[in-house]
Amino acid sequence: MNKRPRRLRYNAHIRGLVRETDLQVSDLIYPLFIIEGTNIKEEISSLKGVYRFSLDRLEEEIHEITALGIQYVLLFGIPEHKDNKGSEAYNDEGIVQKAIRKIKSITDSLYVITDVCMCEYTSHGHCGILDENGYVHNEKSLYYLGQVAVSHAKAGADMVAPSDMMDGRVGYMRKELDECGYTHVPIMSYSAKYASSYYGPFREAAGSTPAFGDRKTYQMDYANSNEALREVSLDIEEGADIVMVKPALAYLDIIRRVKDTFNVPIAAYNVSGEYAMLKLAVEAGLLDEQAVMETILSIKRAGADIIITYFAKDIAKKLKGMR
Ligand code: PBG
Ligand code: ZN
Repeated sequence: MNKRPRRLRYNAHIRGLVRETDLQVSDLIYPLFIIEGTNIKEEISSLKGVYRFSLDRLEEEIHEITALGIQYVLLFGIPEHKDNKGSEAYNDEGIVQKAIRKIKSITDSLYVITDVCMCEYTSHGHCGILDENGYVHNEKSLYYLGQVAVSHAKAGADMVAPSDMMDGRVGYMRKELDECGYTHVPIMSYSAKYASSYYGPFREAAGSTPAFGDRKTYQMDYANSNEALREVSLDIEEGADIVMVKPALAYLDIIRRVKDTFNVPIAAYNVSGEYAMLKLAVEAGLLDEQAVMETILSIKRAGADIIITYFAKDIAKKLKGMR
């Protein structure tokens, strides 16, 4: 029989003192979708409360974000033009490059991270460049991804986050960034990225559904756990400053294993499908609002230092006592 006293749980006040984990706004990164065009602020139907902004409507959003105390954003671009080499992705006048400069002209208190990938920019919707047979070509893709990272850094990005999952891309990007004078720009690598159903709403939001096939040749099998440790280990060797597990909720065990095995900061991406499920359940009144804090805190408790989440604004409001 366990005779341990439970006194520490009795009083609501003392719970704060003995609480093991807490969630802070400074743990959170908020994803932002930037679209070409003018006067656009359109809600993403699959991601309630999240919008696509054109550059001229970005300012109001940036002010709202900073007023809530959010300090980190992750940019995704939706270009007008796509082609088989994804050339808008590494165009210095591309949508993300312009958005970085715009944000930096509005505020210096936001840390701007960019997603580095080809899938929003290629006509075929894959994360890399294809060979003659229609397969993603790892080596060729590295060259283009390196160009993307450098062009983001050149536009003023504070950190780059490669999400493509090509082999060797972290080392390649590190070398390219260093050679171009961006030794100070860290890399947050999407290291353990699973081929997941939970990206569905995002692909609608960013228009990046593959035109054919799937991403299983370069994203991980959801049944594997040791493989995640191998991927993380390689990325660290190649120079990743932060490693990421994605998605977060169906992979809390992976976050914990990475945390217990390595000694680097860990990010977890609470992806679009995870957000959509919970948001809809709360809106329908099936769950109360605590479900959001409880769920996002579980990612921190599992071992993540950093959480990328579409709930960042909701959580910031909650922590500020605004709701
Ligand atoms: C691009 C990318 C994706 C996400 C982040 N970067 C989609 C994918 O790999 O299919 C998913 C984010 C989310 O679902 O919220 N490679
Ligand atoms: Zn991609």
